[in-house]
Amino acid sequence: MYQLKGVTKQYRRGKEAVDALAGVDLVIGDGDRLVIQGPTGGGKSTLLQMLGGLDRPTSGTVELDGVDLASLPEARLTKVRAESIGFVFQSFNLIPTLSARENVETALVPLGMRAADRRERAAEALASVGLGERRSHLPAELSGGQQQRVAIARALVKRPKVLLADEPTGNLDESMRDEIMELLEGLWKEHGLTFVMVTHDSAIARKAPRLATIERGQIKVTERAER
Ligand SMILES: Nc1ncnc2c1ncn2[C@@H]1O[C@H](COP(=O)(O)OP(=O)(O)OP(=O)(O)O)[C@@H](O)[C@H]1O
Ligand SMILES: [Mg+2]
Repeated sequence: MYQLKGVTKQYRRGKEAVDALAGVDLVIGDGDRLVIQGPTGGGKSTLLQMLGGLDRPTSGTVELDGVDLASLPEARLTKVRAESIGFVFQSFNLIPTLSARENVETALVPLGMRAADRRERAAEALASVGLGERRSHLPAELSGGQQQRVAIARALVKRPKVLLADEPTGNLDESMRDEIMELLEGLWKEHGLTFVMVTHDSAIARKAPRLATIERGQIKVTERAER
């Protein structure tokens, strides 16, 4: 479970200061799915970075299962990221010179797993996103939707408890968008993940049981009955 209290993030650009997060309080339960919307520059990606321990807040606490990521020493934070948190971004961020399987395997390297086990787990993860046959393709040999599937397999291969997705369908056309959303939703249910997703897609937001809107660094959460 996540518990955020009074989280602020101030970026400095020369003399100018930007309050990307201006005091965010938020609880996200285990297995919850939270959709985040809001205008560009509102602080959505910044919040996701705090949840993922990719960056630290200027003030406030970001507890994940009672451990404050904001004050955790760097080595322990790296370990939490490697073991417990999967990321999917708008740009797929695959390594162009590695095959689909090798890209997925990169997530297992920090866990100190044997090469043979890594291979097997990566192949399994690719099969679970429907890409079992495309294991040895390079990213350039895959469509956008397929590249995002590889990125999703890479995020989930370590069996994290949390999946964070920042506009995962932002670079895809409509049909691929629906496919990827269905896949993510299926994986969320299947694995009991805590799933936080930023999206500009209002059709997705309308269906979300829990919707957060971030504007000028401030968050508002709307709860709705599950549909
Ligand atoms: N590394 C940085 N240095 C300086 N300012 C930053 C940095 N990252 C973000 N900002 C600023 O913080 C604010 C929030 O940015 P953020 O990326 O979180 O917005 P966002 O809601 O994700 O927007 P978008 O929908 O465009 O992705 C913006 O004003 C942005 O310019
Ligand atoms: Mg963003």
